[in-house]
Amino acid sequence: MTNHTLQSSLGHYSFTSPFLNASGIHCQTQAELDDLAHCQALAGIVTKSATLSPRAGNEQPRYVDLANGSINAMGLPNLGYSFYLDYVQTDHGKPTILSVSGLSQAEMLTVLREIQHSGYQGLTELNLSCPNLAGHPQLAYDFAASKTLLTEVFRFFKKPLGVKLPPYFDLNHFGQIANLLNCFPIHHVNTINSVGNGLVVDIDTETVVTKAKGGFGGLGGAMVLPTALANVRALRQRLRPDIAIIGTGGVRSGADVFAHILCGADMVSVGTQVMKEGLGVYDRLAAELTAIMADKQYTQLADFRGQLKTLSASQRSSSRWTSQS
Ligand SMILES: Cc1cc2nc3c(=O)[nH]c(=O)nc-3n(C[C@H](O)[C@H](O)[C@H](O)COP(=O)(O)O)c2cc1C
Repeated sequence: MTNHTLQSSLGHYSFTSPFLNASGIHCQTQAELDDLAHCQALAGIVTKSATLSPRAGNEQPRYVDLANGSINAMGLPNLGYSFYLDYVQTDHGKPTILSVSGLSQAEMLTVLREIQHSGYQGLTELNLSCPNLAGHPQLAYDFAASKTLLTEVFRFFKKPLGVKLPPYFDLNHFGQIANLLNCFPIHHVNTINSVGNGLVVDIDTETVVTKAKGGFGGLGGAMVLPTALANVRALRQRLRPDIAIIGTGGVRSGADVFAHILCGADMVSVGTQVMKEGLGVYDRLAAELTAIMADKQYTQLADFRGQLKTLSASQRSSSRWTSQS
């Protein structure tokens, strides 16, 4: 294919391709972030979700590869927001998304105030959905608390701010979170975070596989792809058109990236598959996505973004490309 482009954008921010790293994967240390900066096929850098103070995170083992994905209970290990805020204020040759979180709403507000007062002009993303903090529920499952927090945030935060959401599983909840977010000047939504509180059982040892929280952990990778696609699609149908979407979850192949974009994703981020395959995955995904586009005679992502069709009574889908089966 000769004149195709993978050029993408999130609001007014332009990217050379739709590919981002998923927060938490290869983005915690200076060396890891520098690897992302040097990874040509990666269009932007997302930082590890940062808290006010550095955190060691949960005890090991806290990430385990599975045949169909991964389970993790990391507990937000990170170097503290000031490290990441410094990092993103240096030019790395590609846009950055500074992901921030906190163990309390007060902590999140403090970190966001620091970002507001800094010279940082890039994108910030508030992680409302960390599933692996013992004793701390995922904020985005509490609609009233999320509304209170966002009301407080947008009183002072005037820079572009996105939110990272957990997966929702009920059509009514898609409506509730979209209605809530539509009331705020949200820049983008990143969906989905890990599917919270799965449990993997090793029947040889008759134990769980991760240490914290009695083995309950967030799921990622292939097993969460349909959930991720459902969340991208459902939110695209309900959010204001100016709120961009980062599709995250379950991407292993160019077909999965294509599916995310077909559901309405503006950009696509990859977590578990980077853990399994390394940063070389992005070249492969770009090649596979380009091949699918060539086959379908699409020259740009806008040719198919959000164009997912539903089946009429007499139609059946024939799956030549999907890797979901
Ligand atoms: C080891 C690990 C650490 C993660 N840390 C974060 C984090 O700090 N912030 C965040 O928003 N999501 C975090 N996530 C969730 C991922 O960004 C992503 O949403 C999820 O893994 C689904 O994508 P995947 O199926 O490609 O793995 C983490 C996931 C993993 C596996």
